[in-house]
Amino acid sequence: MSDPERVPGGRKYHSLSELVGNTPLLRVTTPLPDPQPGFWAKLEGLSPGGMKARAALSMVTGARRRGELAEGGTIVESTSGTLGIGLAYVGIALGHPVILVTDREIDALTLTLLRAYGARVEIVGEPHPRGGWQRARRDRVNELLAEHAGSFWPDQYNNPDNAAGYEPLGRELLNQLDRLDTVVCSVGTGGHSAGIASAIRPHRPDVRIVGVDSPGSTLFGEPPEKRLMRGLGSSIHPDNVAYDRFDEVHWVGPAEAARTCRELARGNFVSGGWSTGAVALVSAWYAAEIGSDRIVGVFPDGPHRYWETIYDDEFVDRNGLHATRGERRPVDREDERHEGTARWSRSRRVADPCPGRTAGTDCPVCGQDGALS
Ligand SMILES: Cc1ncc(COP(=O)(O)O)c(C=O)c1O
Repeated sequence: MSDPERVPGGRKYHSLSELVGNTPLLRVTTPLPDPQPGFWAKLEGLSPGGMKARAALSMVTGARRRGELAEGGTIVESTSGTLGIGLAYVGIALGHPVILVTDREIDALTLTLLRAYGARVEIVGEPHPRGGWQRARRDRVNELLAEHAGSFWPDQYNNPDNAAGYEPLGRELLNQLDRLDTVVCSVGTGGHSAGIASAIRPHRPDVRIVGVDSPGSTLFGEPPEKRLMRGLGSSIHPDNVAYDRFDEVHWVGPAEAARTCRELARGNFVSGGWSTGAVALVSAWYAAEIGSDRIVGVFPDGPHRYWETIYDDEFVDRNGLHATRGERRPVDREDERHEGTARWSRSRRVADPCPGRTAGTDCPVCGQDGALS
């Protein structure tokens, strides 16, 4: 891949795939809602294919290199979110048809955009009798892979090329900032936190990596519960989560995340979705708590997909997303008894909860049919 030409007035790109990455940092000092010293927001939503274009590009080029995806071969994935947009982007950039399997939960904006970008979107009609919607989607993916010779399933939860795709993001941070204490990342597949940590730690072993998860997510060992938020959190234990790289994990609830998104939009213009709100809240709290101006929060996307949820007053009322003043700092799980993960909490003991990996025994969470988020 060639580098873009730097010319007066900006950069000149000769191919679509060069546009991935090199996102700007913005200093965010708006109160959230209390005054805070400020942190750097890495604006991944400003890249045309979104943050997940980094993962999509890395997984697709890796598969091409290894001969797992034929020239012009079809990419087939089960997704209802940002990876779909990233794959649609890379499909156009590198000449691969893209088939995405989803269900009725997909938001109308993403569905319309995916089709506009030429992806074939299949909406499965019925849940699997035992494995639910996710199993129904995976079964359809398998059928499509069998139907299309030379096709490829990226498998973002377990494909190491997902995490590797974010190493450039870590290097960008090292180049953009002379001083860096802490990077705050939401965790879904674990890809971007793992890739950033891999790129930064060899040069700066002292940089803290803080993960942000959702209540009801199994990622860090909690039991599964129904989740309102999308993007961060999971209902399995993906291989891509780099448990040994996290210094600390926060669980931020939807009320705090939504409120922070709205405050960002009002005071800062640049805002985003559930993961952006949760990351901004933790980044601002961290900056105040340790008195540092060297904190970076990764903002995975922009606000548009969330116009019917986070930014819709009726949705907020209907779902009781009015955060109270008492929720403006996390409960420390090591210091206090906490009741479930319903409110903002944090832990500095981070361990891999998956017995499938740590003890070689069956994992009741990952073994659930339909466990994918
Ligand atoms: C909007 C959004 N935020 C955060 C994440 C979590 O990122 P990762 O999968 O790299 O852990 C995702 C993943 O799908 C996402 O779509």
